[in-house]
Amino acid sequence: MSVAETYAAPPVSEAALTADGEQCQLPIRKGTLGPDVIDITSLYSKTNHFTFDPGFTSTASCESKITFIDGDEGVLLYRGYPIDELAETGKFLESAYLLLNGELPTQDQFDDFSTRIAYHTMVHEQMSQFYKGFRRDAHPMAVMVGVVGALSAFYHDSTDIRDPEQREMASIRMIAKMPTIAAMAHKYSIGQPFVYPQNHLDYSANFLNMCFAVPCEPYKVDPVLSRAMDRIFILHADHEQNASTSTVRLAGSSGANPFACISAGIACLWGPAHGGANEAALTMLQQIGTVERIPEFIARAKDKNDPFRLMGFGHRVYKNYDPRAKIMQKTCHEVLEAVGHGDDPTLKVALELEHIALNDDYFIEKKLYPNIDFYSGITLRALGFPTEMFTVLFAIARTVGWIAQWKEMIEDPYQRIGRPRQLYTGAKQRSYVPISERV
Ligand code: SDX
Repeated sequence: MSVAETYAAPPVSEAALTADGEQCQLPIRKGTLGPDVIDITSLYSKTNHFTFDPGFTSTASCESKITFIDGDEGVLLYRGYPIDELAETGKFLESAYLLLNGELPTQDQFDDFSTRIAYHTMVHEQMSQFYKGFRRDAHPMAVMVGVVGALSAFYHDSTDIRDPEQREMASIRMIAKMPTIAAMAHKYSIGQPFVYPQNHLDYSANFLNMCFAVPCEPYKVDPVLSRAMDRIFILHADHEQNASTSTVRLAGSSGANPFACISAGIACLWGPAHGGANEAALTMLQQIGTVERIPEFIARAKDKNDPFRLMGFGHRVYKNYDPRAKIMQKTCHEVLEAVGHGDDPTLKVALELEHIALNDDYFIEKKLYPNIDFYSGITLRALGFPTEMFTVLFAIARTVGWIAQWKEMIEDPYQRIGRPRQLYTGAKQRSYVPISERV
């Protein structure tokens, strides 16, 4: 039975395609939400043509039940639940359970899941030696790529992806250990001793404690900041088939172990066009400095000859306000008030920049709105994190989405190795010329 006959939602109609005089019918499949898809799995065999879609702007790379985004309406659903409802009252590990298992947990299921995560937050003691190989001023994302990739050298008993129990254990370990590894990267960069996880603290409070506690005095996690951290993790947890998730899926399709796949996802997230934008957005706001200089940067963003872009603005999918940005803005105000920086000049610049951009014809015409990264940088700095840690925090949260999407791909009975083709425009076949005869 071919993949086209068995895979995805059933065909609801057909698309007729004529290529070089040859006509073929392609099934059109309908999901529960969002655009229908034209199933082209048989296109090459029927027409000897590939499709061409660099950047995959018109390509559905897989079928998924995890996250739905409506870019025109600014809608984001995790397993059908709106992001604002989950972020308003839920906890990050509730959303993590939901993304992994498809349903919100009962109290018993939540307690069991939280306990399992807590009991896997420690890393093998020998991993602490790994950090000593890095310079103190190494970017923490470089450390994350290295240390997370090295997990497969320590946890051999959860790398067999064909064993459901090992997949489950690897998922728990990955979600549990990311905050510890991230906090260790932060402590290493500032020359402070590592702080061990505390099982009596919840996920986000534990992370803040590992980042900011010191051995010399007791550290009390501020519940307002811990709640804000938890909400920020929820907002960043998953986002359909974005660049880093697609990286994890492609790496996983070869059968690579989950730790290596997550390490690949971290590497991709680091880019300033993707998860690195929160760091870049704060740097940009600080570079602007004052409300008076905003028009200068707006003009640069509109100048085709200037590569400058407004970091934290625009999105491949959202052509409306990123629903996460609204919640992030609210959280930003809460955190700044809690830490006594309610009049943070950078926030003033951000609010005025947003106001000006949203009323500028260029941004309106190109449907450029603030995305999740626009306010997150100000918030994370107010929480006490150095700028270089911002994308690391994004990676902690997105590990849940990466693992959920990896698991869905591995458990798909029709999963195959991802292997795109190309439009070749290079040299035609030619014969080798000995070097003595080359001019
Ligand atoms: C994330 O995919 C995801 O889901 C990602 C993410 C997730 O949760 O995983 O949501 C997280 O990565 C959010 C995005 C963070 N990146 C930034 O904030 C960086 C700044 N934004 C741009 O680099 C850009 O908007 C992208 C990369 C986000 C989207 O790029 P696209 O879809 O390829 O858009 P484009 O480059 O085709 O832009 C369309 C037009 C272009 O002008 P024209 O060539 O049509 O004349 O809009 C312009 C662009 O020049 N444009 C911008 C702009 N973003 C796009 N102009 C000024 N400033 C910007 N930020």
